[in-house]
Amino acid sequence: MDKQVLTTARERMHGFCRVCPVCDGRACRGEVPGMGGTGTGSAFMENLQALGRIKINMRTIHSVHAPDTGIKLLNRSLNMPILISPLGGVHYNMTRDLNEKEYIAAMVGGAAHAGTLGGTGDGEVPEIFEAAIDTLKSYPSRGIPFIKPWEDAQLSQRIAQLQSIGSEICGMDIDAAGLITLKELGQPVYPKTPTEIRKIISRSKMQFILKGIMTPDEARIAVDAGASAIVVSNHGGRVLDHTPGTAEVLPGIVEAVNSSIPVLVDGGIRSGADVFKMLALGATAVMIGRPMAIAAIGGGAEAVSTKLRALQAELEQVMIMTGASDLSSINPAHIRM
Ligand SMILES: Cc1cc2nc3c(=O)[nH]c(=O)nc-3n(C[C@H](O)[C@H](O)[C@H](O)COP(=O)(O)O)c2cc1C
Repeated sequence: MDKQVLTTARERMHGFCRVCPVCDGRACRGEVPGMGGTGTGSAFMENLQALGRIKINMRTIHSVHAPDTGIKLLNRSLNMPILISPLGGVHYNMTRDLNEKEYIAAMVGGAAHAGTLGGTGDGEVPEIFEAAIDTLKSYPSRGIPFIKPWEDAQLSQRIAQLQSIGSEICGMDIDAAGLITLKELGQPVYPKTPTEIRKIISRSKMQFILKGIMTPDEARIAVDAGASAIVVSNHGGRVLDHTPGTAEVLPGIVEAVNSSIPVLVDGGIRSGADVFKMLALGATAVMIGRPMAIAAIGGGAEAVSTKLRALQAELEQVMIMTGASDLSSINPAHIRM
């Protein structure tokens, strides 16, 4: 990332994020609120370590020199299989120098300019979801709003707000049941039963994404409940200490889903090589969180789209060096566990 963007982000995120050379969860362990992982920070760090254990098989005797990173996902054509994870709570977790609206407009606007999608978050204060609604009006087909697993009345209100702006898509981070930031502010959220999830999805009448799946059995429950996609995620290590890395659980979940719906994944993805590894493990596409927030805070929408394009270029280079002409040709034989 551009040095000036990093310097500005470091200044603005003072006290929340050190903008380390590698965003790996060491310096910020235990900092929730903040940008860290909960407790010892091991779940955040393990996301990177699980990816680090996977190696890529180099192959250069083939005809691939202009690989195609395009993908059709959730009825949208994207330039790359790289989306932005929803990260909310700017004043609570990131910086006092930007407000929620400026920040989320940079995230989703940057994603739109790079030809992909940006998630929006939800949380402790109403401004987070209000900013999301505002931004989605400007970029109707480029944002994915994620709502928290609130109790019934608040959940219905959120879904109605999304329906009123014509949103065709909605996500829910069911793993937010573990968020201490919500608990601290007297807004606890709880796990949902399969029956509750089925009802929420059918009531929403939108393409519904369940985020925070870490086991094959819950992936099957999500499919049976009518989810349009899942995100394999441990919330960047923020909700439960000592979970495995997402790269470790991904293959079992992909097998359980058996190609019935797209499987997205996030957690510790920092380079085009990491994107490639997740695709080789069976993911349809990936999401990236903290590095994108750092770009948005340090350099606005332009820095976000520049960062996304750089990741796309890295992915293309790995595809050339492995002989993968398009995303569908990336498979487990490209990697070594
Ligand atoms: C400060 C912060 C706020 C977050 N807010 C949300 C949120 O509102 N909704 C959500 O689904 N996930 C939220 N997440 C989790 C991210 O969507 C994502 O799962 C995680 O950051 C991915 O890991 P990475 O940051 O290592 O790429 C948040 C994460 C952070 C660090």
